[in-house]
Amino acid sequence: MKDKLDHSKIPQHIAIIMDGNGRWAQKKGAMRIFGHKNAMTAVRESIEAAAELGVKYITLYAFSTENWSRPQDEIEALMELLVQAIKDEVPTMMKNNIRLNSIGDVQSLPSKCQQHLEWSKNETKSNTGLTVVLALSYSGRWEITEAVKEIVKKVDQGTLKSEEITPGLIGEYLNTSNIPDPELLIRTSGELRISNFMLWQLAYTELYFTEVLWPDFRKEHLHEAILAYQRRERRFGKTGAQIKP
Ligand code: IPE
Ligand code: IPE
Ligand code: MG
Repeated sequence: MKDKLDHSKIPQHIAIIMDGNGRWAQKKGAMRIFGHKNAMTAVRESIEAAAELGVKYITLYAFSTENWSRPQDEIEALMELLVQAIKDEVPTMMKNNIRLNSIGDVQSLPSKCQQHLEWSKNETKSNTGLTVVLALSYSGRWEITEAVKEIVKKVDQGTLKSEEITPGLIGEYLNTSNIPDPELLIRTSGELRISNFMLWQLAYTELYFTEVLWPDFRKEHLHEAILAYQRRERRFGKTGAQIKP
């Protein structure tokens, strides 16, 4: 599969909605949390595959604003796993020149989680290879709301004129201000929805859905998704004839 890829057309930024952990566990007659525990292999494989191909950014939707409505014990277990993973992966990230970043309402996370996240981001900040962006307590509507509040504050203070508000300026107020929009979005587990993920940034992203449940996701599944992406014609509103070389 990897050999079939056009190495001059690798997306710069891939975003993934990692879904299906609970169903994966339930199929095995286990508790949902068993699925979350088994999600790390898929995370590692995706990061490794992306790094090998020279992808610059991979954004992983790990916990949404809406996920705060899950049962308290599942939330606690997820946060515990997160802290552990963030800590455990730092040596590998250092070895592979990987930088960790995050988007979302970090302040709403338990303080231990915040501390580990800040520490890991700081440790890896000089790495120049792949950037892994963790979306934590993130939702697109939350992010856009925060941006609107900031912009309105500037207009009220007189430091920004309303005529200066453009799509480009709005982009600068989002959590992803220094990150290009994803060219490819992958969602696992067969669900055909966006679930409040990167609403602004996905405007022209190619969407790829797979039935594979997240804990089963491996390098070849990422390769398959990139191959499907490379076969698409991205027209950005133009006609097919206009974009032919
Ligand atoms: C994705 O798997 C992980 C998170 C949302 C944290 P789910 O936990 O949503 O698994 P399903 O969709 O119930 O199978
Ligand atoms: C989306 O998955 C959020 C993450 C993968 C973190 P959900 O499982 O929470 O989405 P819905 O509720 O099925 O839309
Ligand atoms: Mg789900």
